[in-house]
Amino acid sequence: MGKVIYLDHASTTPADPEVVAAMLPWHSEQFGNPSTVYSLGLTAAQAVNEARESIAGAIGAQPEEIYFTSGGTESDNWSILGTADAQQKKGRHLVTSTIEHHAVLESMDYLEKHGYEVTKVPVDAGGLVDPEDVRRAIRPDTILISIMHANNEVGTLQPIAEIGKITREAGVLFHTDAVQTAGKLPLDVEALGVDMLSMSAHKFYGPKGIGLMYLRKRTRISPLFHGGGQEKGRRAGTHNVPGIVGMAKALELAAARMADDAVREAALRDRLWAGLSAGIEAIYLNGDMTHRLPSNLNVRLDGIEGESMILMLDMEGICVSSGSACTTGSLEPSHVLLGLGIPAEHAHGSLRVTIGRSTTAEDIDLFIKVFPPIVARLREMSPVWCANCVCKQRN
Ligand SMILES: Cc1ncc(COP(=O)(O)O)c(C=O)c1O
Repeated sequence: MGKVIYLDHASTTPADPEVVAAMLPWHSEQFGNPSTVYSLGLTAAQAVNEARESIAGAIGAQPEEIYFTSGGTESDNWSILGTADAQQKKGRHLVTSTIEHHAVLESMDYLEKHGYEVTKVPVDAGGLVDPEDVRRAIRPDTILISIMHANNEVGTLQPIAEIGKITREAGVLFHTDAVQTAGKLPLDVEALGVDMLSMSAHKFYGPKGIGLMYLRKRTRISPLFHGGGQEKGRRAGTHNVPGIVGMAKALELAAARMADDAVREAALRDRLWAGLSAGIEAIYLNGDMTHRLPSNLNVRLDGIEGESMILMLDMEGICVSSGSACTTGSLEPSHVLLGLGIPAEHAHGSLRVTIGRSTTAEDIDLFIKVFPPIVARLREMSPVWCANCVCKQRN
């Protein structure tokens, strides 16, 4: 196989070689269980503590507010289901947005089936939540607001700090899914005003299967997992020591290069959009271009299916996505794009390109070269696009 041009960094990232090197000893010679009391275990416990301190420092939290989980899905589920269970005497109403990740939306759906009420605030055409809509949605029985920091499909950045002020005034717990921003943008739990925050290491060049939940001190939430009493009895299960060490290393590396990466990736993203919009007709941007992750470009094209574009780009060695990786394979149009008010037929013709550390200007230029002929071929075969052409010729 020739060189693969990987432009799907929102889906996952390769672990940095330094991360892998930091993890290796904890798989082999330092294999101890941190819950044991002999030296081998204590050494592992020490590594877990150091990782906890380093991660807490990076997001403005206290070490005891960091809980290790298996990733973003678990942290999202835990914040929502754990709050619902612990706070049900206070109320059974939760607020979220229409464009959250499935890990949040499906947890909310589960609660709805079990007697809770959920209000989903809308987003505007750019994908932004209006904090005033959140304020209006809060009721005396509201127990949790969960609004994501950056959207995984269109990269929109939500006004989390503003929403945080509103939830504090109202005395309602606030969770944010920061899976797409962790390692890409500076995070400070105090400035954001959140009580819970989800992160996942594989999105920032760390290993898969490890993540965390920031949980503000004295927040009452029930555990999801019951067992050996790890993580102060709030998240049972033997610690994933290599994963925890790797995640801390990945975050440390990301913090050191974050500002430079953001500038470089935004420039590549803008170069890509300039090239595509100049070379292809009927191509449009999805999502707000100002409040957006620097690495994300999401476009829609009249007359073609996202899936066929992906397959043809794959034949050229280019990996992109048509929406969130978790829904790939489903023929349902993306709920995020529908949430932005994009009609279903246009949502089907969308493509997400997410740039990362390995992306070069040459990769972008190659994309700009190979994509227009793919679009032309697919449009030739498309009954929808042909109908358009006939219309145009007739006019
Ligand atoms: C915004 C968001 N939340 C949650 C997740 C789930 O994270 P994980 O893959 O670690 O379970 C993802 C991953 O696609 C995501 O993009």
